[in-house]
Amino acid sequence: MADVEHMKQLACQRAAQEVQDGMVLGLGTGTTVYYFLQELGRMVRTGRRLTGVPTSVRTAEIATQLAIPLTTLDNQPHLDLAVDGADEVDTNLNLIKGAGGALLREKIIAASADRFVVVVDASKVVTQLGERYPLPVEVVPFGHIPAIRTLEGLGARVSLRRSTDGQPWVSDNGNYILDCHFGPIPDPVALQKKLLAIPAVVDSGLFLNMTDMAIVGHADGVRLLQRGEGARTSADGGGGRPHTTRSARSSGLQDR
Ligand code: 5RP
Repeated sequence: MADVEHMKQLACQRAAQEVQDGMVLGLGTGTTVYYFLQELGRMVRTGRRLTGVPTSVRTAEIATQLAIPLTTLDNQPHLDLAVDGADEVDTNLNLIKGAGGALLREKIIAASADRFVVVVDASKVVTQLGERYPLPVEVVPFGHIPAIRTLEGLGARVSLRRSTDGQPWVSDNGNYILDCHFGPIPDPVALQKKLLAIPAVVDSGLFLNMTDMAIVGHADGVRLLQRGEGARTSADGGGGRPHTTRSARSSGLQDR
C-alpha cells in the first residue's frame, strides 16, 4: 500500500475507536473516509448497532455495499459523531473541504453532530489555509457568473469546476462549485463573511471553529490535534476525549 494510503488507513482505524455501540454517525466523503467506512462495515458485520447519515450519494453507495444501516437527517437530526476528511487542516483545526464537492452536506452533518472528527494524512496539515488547495465555493447556477465577478473582485482566481465531458460539475444539491485560488488566507473568518454576503453563494469549504479533533496519519502512527490543546503525539492515538458542546462549536460562522 502506498504511504499516503497507509496514513489514511491509520487515521481511520484510530477514528473507529471513537465509535460506540448504538451511535448515529455522520459519514463523510472522500478517499480517506473510505477506510473509515470499511472499519464501520467490519463493526456492523460483528454485530455492532450503528446507523449512518451519509454526506453524499457516493458515500451512501459505499455504505450500502458494506451493509451499514443508513438514515436521514429528517429521521435523525441529532448525530453523536461525524467523521470526515479534509483538504487542509490548520493548527487551530480550521479546515478547507470540498475538493470532492460534498461541502454543503458535510457542513450540515458536522454541525448536527455532538463531535466532529477529521481524518487526514500528514500532507493535509498546513500553517495557513489556502496554501495548497483552492477554496471551493458552492453557488446556485442561476447566479454563478455574477458570483465569479464578485469573487475575482475579492482577489481570487476562479475556475468553474467541470466534469470530464466539459459541462459544469453539479453537486448533489444541484449547484455548481467555484474553485477559488486565494493563496494563503490570513483571516478565514473575515473571508467567510464576505463569501456568505454574495447572493448566489450557498456556502464555502471553510469549516471554521467546528472541528473537535483531527486525527493525522503518519507513516508510523497517528498524531492527534485536539481543540484547545494543540498537537499531541501518540503511537496508538491514546484516549482522552475532549468534551465540546455543539453550542461552543457553533459559535463559529454558522450564521450569515
Ligand atoms: C469532499 C471533501 C473531502 O473530505 C476532502 O476533499 C478530502 O478528500 P480525500 O480524503 O479524498 O482527500 O471535503 O467534499
